[in-house]
Amino acid sequence: MHPSEEIKFEKSTSLKNKRICLCLTGSVACVESFYLCRDLIRHGAEVNVFMTESTTRLIHPDLMEFASGKKPILELTGRTEHITLCSDCDLVIVSPCTANTISKIALGIADNPVTTCVTTALGYGIPVIIVPAMHLSLMKNKAVERNIKKLERLGCKVLKPRIEKERAKIADREMIIANAIRLVGKRDLEDKNILIIGGASAERIDDIRVITNRSSGKFSIELAREAFERGANVELWYGWMKEKIPSYIRTKEFESVKDLSDMVKYTKKFDFIIVCAALSNYIPRALDGKIPSGIKGLTLDLETAPTIIDEIRKICKKGKIIVFKAEEREDKLIEKCKDLSNNFYMVVGNLITSFGKEDTTIWIFKKGKMKKVSGNKKDLARHIIDIMVS
Ligand SMILES: Cc1cc2nc3c(=O)[nH]c(=O)nc-3n(C[C@H](O)[C@H](O)[C@H](O)COP(=O)(O)O)c2cc1C
Repeated sequence: MHPSEEIKFEKSTSLKNKRICLCLTGSVACVESFYLCRDLIRHGAEVNVFMTESTTRLIHPDLMEFASGKKPILELTGRTEHITLCSDCDLVIVSPCTANTISKIALGIADNPVTTCVTTALGYGIPVIIVPAMHLSLMKNKAVERNIKKLERLGCKVLKPRIEKERAKIADREMIIANAIRLVGKRDLEDKNILIIGGASAERIDDIRVITNRSSGKFSIELAREAFERGANVELWYGWMKEKIPSYIRTKEFESVKDLSDMVKYTKKFDFIIVCAALSNYIPRALDGKIPSGIKGLTLDLETAPTIIDEIRKICKKGKIIVFKAEEREDKLIEKCKDLSNNFYMVVGNLITSFGKEDTTIWIFKKGKMKKVSGNKKDLARHIIDIMVS
């Protein structure tokens, strides 16, 4: 067994049975392609590598043979590799893509294995992801700019680089993989606008202290990831969060329940709103400055916080609202969730012991039915969205 087989499905089965042509061009960022190739396999893909001549001066084809388990295509031969491999593949990724190759593809030039593979794929209507990487001066060149727009018009998904100082840095691997899964996956949330509200709220006590809670925000990230991969336009509104938010998810930040309440007016456009944030039920009457230390028996004056899910329901008439509820005991949780499910599209119950944990149990309530599921938060996010769209 080739070593590349051993890592298959290590991360997920999202790219199972998917054939991907990974095309490399002569940017230094091709050092990243080894890891990209391995991660595509870890998600279950079969990968064929194509390399331009300038790439082979930067990294050796043996490295990519080791990564993919197959000899990279360095030239086109009588085996017509561009037809045999590209015509029945599910996706082509050009990563990194040089200014040179961008402009060639935009003009329909097919003069090497990479440009011929992409031109063939576009002719067949196979999805193509272009991941540009170059010095900012090249990126700002009007001809290159125009050609990038042309690629978008041709139907390519261009993952724009991050601009840092004078460099247009290649999109991160996580973003490339998520877009690959999104393009070849089931896309049952295509054109749907989905808002996920996650993380913990933090309420001011004075200018430096807050009351917050132990929510890690993990569920909201897994839900955002899942919805993105299934084709949705996702926005994540996040409070205090321990987890790193993927760079491809659009975000807005809030701190307090009041901040969130001010944002509710922007919820109108959403088809689904999932509220899994741990929001404070009580708000302290905050003091300016810093409460001096050493006060004996200091008490806080708390008032009841507004209920955000009720505010959203008033504003967002068309949106289906999915609310999370956390309780200490299962019997109480089920009773509360049942009550809530009379007023909301769907309710997801979990016990407070699940805060910050990777594996947990949830109770999903929709249209009078209840389903109890256990697993890691990634798999549970899939279950929740499956039931949400069913
Ligand atoms: C060390 C080195 C690094 C390079 N990095 C880039 C790059 O990041 N982006 C780019 O567009 N061109 C870069 N170039 C220039 C391309 O390799 C050159 O334009 C080449 O003709 C591209 O050919 P290809 O698109 O067929 O691979 C680099 C060249 C060298 C020698």
